[in-house]
Amino acid sequence: MNSRPVDARLRRPERLSIVGAGYIGLPTAAGFADVGYEVTCVDINEEKISQLQAGRVTLHEPGLEQLVQHGLRTRRLRFSTDLASAARESSIVFVCVPTPQADDGSADLSFVEAVAAQLARVVHPGTILVTRSTVPVGTASRLREIIGRSDVHVAANPEFLREGSAVRDFLHPDRVLIGAVEPQVQRRLAELYDVFDAPVVVTDIPTAELTKHAANAFLATRLSFVNSMANICEAAGADVHDVMRVLGMDPRIGPKFLAAGPGWGGSCLPKDTRALAHVARELGEAFTQLESTVASNEQQFDRVVSRLAQHLEGGCAGRRIAVWGLAFKAGTNDLRDSPSVSVCRRLLAAGASITAHDPAVNATAVASLGVDYAETSIGACFGADALVVLTEWSEFANVEPASVASAMNGKVVFDTRNVLDANRWTDAGLTLLRVGRGSPDPLNDAASANAA
Ligand code: UGA
Repeated sequence: MNSRPVDARLRRPERLSIVGAGYIGLPTAAGFADVGYEVTCVDINEEKISQLQAGRVTLHEPGLEQLVQHGLRTRRLRFSTDLASAARESSIVFVCVPTPQADDGSADLSFVEAVAAQLARVVHPGTILVTRSTVPVGTASRLREIIGRSDVHVAANPEFLREGSAVRDFLHPDRVLIGAVEPQVQRRLAELYDVFDAPVVVTDIPTAELTKHAANAFLATRLSFVNSMANICEAAGADVHDVMRVLGMDPRIGPKFLAAGPGWGGSCLPKDTRALAHVARELGEAFTQLESTVASNEQQFDRVVSRLAQHLEGGCAGRRIAVWGLAFKAGTNDLRDSPSVSVCRRLLAAGASITAHDPAVNATAVASLGVDYAETSIGACFGADALVVLTEWSEFANVEPASVASAMNGKVVFDTRNVLDANRWTDAGLTLLRVGRGSPDPLNDAASANAA
């Protein structure tokens, strides 16, 4: 990596500023520097910036720390807390600050708006201000009003990065989406991405803004459909994994993003589905299907707890539950809107106590959830009445079922992510429950027998 030359396809030596050194901003900054641009990444968090200046990345994101270190070595990547200086030196400024969910479900744009207001005072004429965070349709118009300068351009370039593969997704994108009005802005932004082997789609700004929300809403709807099918499969004694395997063979559907689970979550899908539903209501076009996608996901979390309670005599109250996995998916330590955390909250509300292990989540973060921390998978199981697997870390598949059986007090193991080998775990004398699979699950066997 050290000796990697600047990509020959780089057309112009744009100097870029990236505002926000989080899950979106940091891979964007390090990625643009990696292909040859001069990049300054700005954040208000001084501690984070000094860590980054020393080449330390606290996000659990494969390859990101190496990319940052490489950028620092080549001096193409710099970190700063000085937004004004960075923006004055840049021709293009990407805004990558959080757009969290507000109480009414809408996207809270206060961080984006505050950055735009600061930039308005300092940038040179001709600067392009680009939203890269996910923002609702109409945001660019709002920013234009805030900036109040006709010599500053506004554009949208939504990111499609997935946590856990953000570096790969940035360097090898499926597609690049640019929303801009002026032809020269469209051209300059498109040229930035010439260096990547990806189709670049240029649209108007509202289309670009809405497309990002549509993509995440579609993915969430797909998963709620899969989870609803899983529930029907449980009742019918069918196997959702086979159902989805066959569905996925249809090229119109495709095999990815069809895994049933405890419900979907993360820093994007939950807030973006709610934000789009909110926008739709405001536009007078209620998105009832998306509202029910969100509602059915909440029911999926409830269902994990109620199904577990059915298998614990007397329910969850006073029970000790071992939890494997807290992150919202494997490959990250991110707990934001994690399905596991949603399930843990419900278990605690039902009167259970929890000891949790996650290979990437540290003791402090675990304690903040009100659950006990275990350093190992087995450590979480001592004296437990049940074990629930809530994140699909592959290492859980390698744990010896016999050791779990002897550590636990009870026999119920609920694998909501389909990571455990059913035969090995039932052979160890454990009662294995799985999402979307009727058998081996005595209650469902009984239900399907009754149905027959
Ligand atoms: C999501 C989108 O997939 C990205 O395309 C998008 O760029 C990103 O949001 C964003 O807006 O920034 P991410 O939040 O990293 O990416 O997570 P996903 O991989 O989409 O997973 C979301 C949730 O769905 C997780 O809880 C995951 O466990 C769950 N999931 C995913 C399933 O339950 N089954 C699956 O088959 C796939």
